[in-house]
Amino acid sequence: MNQAACILAIESSCDDTGAAILIDGKVKSNVLVRQVDHAKYGGVIPELASRSHIKHIVPVVDTAIARAGITKDAITAVAFTQCPGLIGSLMVGACFAKAFALSRNLPLIAVNHLRAHVLAHFIDAQPPFPFLCLTASGGHTQLIVCHSHHDMQLLGQTIDDAAGEAFDKIAKMTGLPYPGGPLVDKYAKNGNPHAFKFATSEMKDYDFSFSGIKTSVLYFLQKQQKTNPQFIEQNLADICASAQHAIVQMLMQKLLKAAKQLGITHLGIAGGVSANSYWRNALIEAGNQRGLTVYIPPFEYCTDNAAMIGITAYYQALNQDWAGLDTVPMAKSTGL
Ligand code: KG4
Ligand code: ZN
Repeated sequence: MNQAACILAIESSCDDTGAAILIDGKVKSNVLVRQVDHAKYGGVIPELASRSHIKHIVPVVDTAIARAGITKDAITAVAFTQCPGLIGSLMVGACFAKAFALSRNLPLIAVNHLRAHVLAHFIDAQPPFPFLCLTASGGHTQLIVCHSHHDMQLLGQTIDDAAGEAFDKIAKMTGLPYPGGPLVDKYAKNGNPHAFKFATSEMKDYDFSFSGIKTSVLYFLQKQQKTNPQFIEQNLADICASAQHAIVQMLMQKLLKAAKQLGITHLGIAGGVSANSYWRNALIEAGNQRGLTVYIPPFEYCTDNAAMIGITAYYQALNQDWAGLDTVPMAKSTGL
């Protein structure tokens, strides 16, 4: 049997429950249930996320199977996100995948979520190697060189907050609900990116730091509100556009520096923040100016999704990289 032929992939690392079906490495369905109730708490509550996964996982998997136009009998392997993520959330996906695999005598594939964000680029395209990718999500900011589907090298990462976290925290300071990243993007469209200048951090080599910009925005807003309590509502678009500009500038600077120093001409962005329209445009512009080929994933493959777990599992299956039933989920990633 070709075990890579029909993969059921499960994603449950944070607060989204996802399931996808891939046939011969092609996505046939990609279903996601987004949990909305975290907004009222200002962030993800791990306990609530785990409970929600328990509630949604069976219907999400059933929907993915139905939308792919197959039955359970067609499935030849089961993949799940092993790490990194919220441990309670990961356990729901891992236990479901194990039970499904055990009951149907199918092989199991354990997937690293961060590797999957990078390989999301290989769902609809085939970037040549070496491929340089900057993943920026709510929990991670990593600059990675992909030497093959199986060999990834971490060049640098954030030493404090992730880029998405910076977006979310700055959004919160302006009174926008969680997750604020997409809202900053939305309001910034009507603002001037050069209206206010926020401090950016210059880290060594390929590392990032986003705590400085966060503090810079906080102190600026506190100062302005002392003389004008309506400052935020009167300047929301400019605040969002200026903060967004500063974050994107830091991301682009390291990405282009690595491309130049390593002589890599194929580069992409990944993770939730890669849905940001200003960053996407900045990358396209830089690509045109410098003769680089840039890859930007479709929106549904930027934020957490099960299709990216499926494509990673597909390449692992081709490489006979199976997991035992004793595989445990892990909150932290042990590497790429
Ligand atoms: O990859 P992801 O869905 O989950 C994690 O693995 O963390 O990323 C979520 C992050 C959040 O911080 C969210 O605010 C940010 O991605 N995000 C955005 C946009 N869409 C999502 N940040 C800026 N602009 C966006 N359009
Ligand atoms: Zn993610």
